[in-house]
Amino acid sequence: MKCKKCRHDAVIDMRHHNLALCKEHYLEWMVLQTERSICKFGMFSHDERLLVAVSGGKDSLSLWDILWKLGYAVDGLYLDLGIDEEEPYSRQSGEYARQFAAQRGLHLQVIDIQQEYGESIPEMGRRTKRGHTKPCSQCGLVKRYLLNKQALEGGYDAIVTAHNLDDEAAFLFSNLTHWSLQYLGRQRPLLPATSGFARKAKPFCQFYERECAAYAILNGIQYIYHECPYAEGSKQLRNKSLLNQMEDQQTGFKTQFYLGYLRALEQGIFPQSQEDAGVLEKKRCHRCGQPTQSAGLCTFCRLVTGK
Ligand code: FES
Ligand code: ZN
Ligand code: ZN
Repeated sequence: MKCKKCRHDAVIDMRHHNLALCKEHYLEWMVLQTERSICKFGMFSHDERLLVAVSGGKDSLSLWDILWKLGYAVDGLYLDLGIDEEEPYSRQSGEYARQFAAQRGLHLQVIDIQQEYGESIPEMGRRTKRGHTKPCSQCGLVKRYLLNKQALEGGYDAIVTAHNLDDEAAFLFSNLTHWSLQYLGRQRPLLPATSGFARKAKPFCQFYERECAAYAILNGIQYIYHECPYAEGSKQLRNKSLLNQMEDQQTGFKTQFYLGYLRALEQGIFPQSQEDAGVLEKKRCHRCGQPTQSAGLCTFCRLVTGK
């Protein structure tokens, strides 16, 4: 297998693009394609300040690396979830994130959930339970809330997350099987800012997961290899494996699936919710002032105060 550009030995074969590349040209290609996605979807510009959500995994560290190489003004936010009971998952991912930032002289904000709110994510999950044994929904809520809060308070122009095509295709599959029109309208590569909510962008939405992993490995980026211990057996992972089976049978399946969704969005098949269009008048949380659907406290404040 030879690199399509220079005929040296290729390190990766992207059959869905019919493209094999050597290390040098692959790394160059990833950077270029990221910039293309940013421009194609009008995500952000070089004079804006960005906040990237860093988990310590291959996707977020690769994204931060590429945005930094492209010259964007980008800080990182790492949320220490305190998932360390069975294995030191949070501790290790935090170390990788800190090490990455220090090596490049980048600014990483760290919020320790346990220190800040008195409980780790597994503890919050156990306290609230609601019939679930895993704390994933509480974790998702805390992450979304704090990311938005930090972006607004820090005066950032956009939040950037490293969702890749495998993530997006798996969400899409789940949302389609449930016909969750509200979520289907929100799963855009770019969600503009609305009152109380920062702009959100996903520049990696067209990369396969293995492409992000290859970028991290070829760049010598150290990252947490394991998934969160609570992800095991999750619907998201099951959907990913299903879509990978489809990809094995039909090269480019995941890309076609996702690109079809983007076309449907352009045609207005999944319209923006009133909420995203900023039409809906929201109430404000009594405790934190963030927008909320219901009167009184927002869901985050209810979670952390136990009310
Ligand atoms: Fe949040 Fe697993 S429960 S990352
Ligand atoms: Zn080459
Ligand atoms: Zn609140």
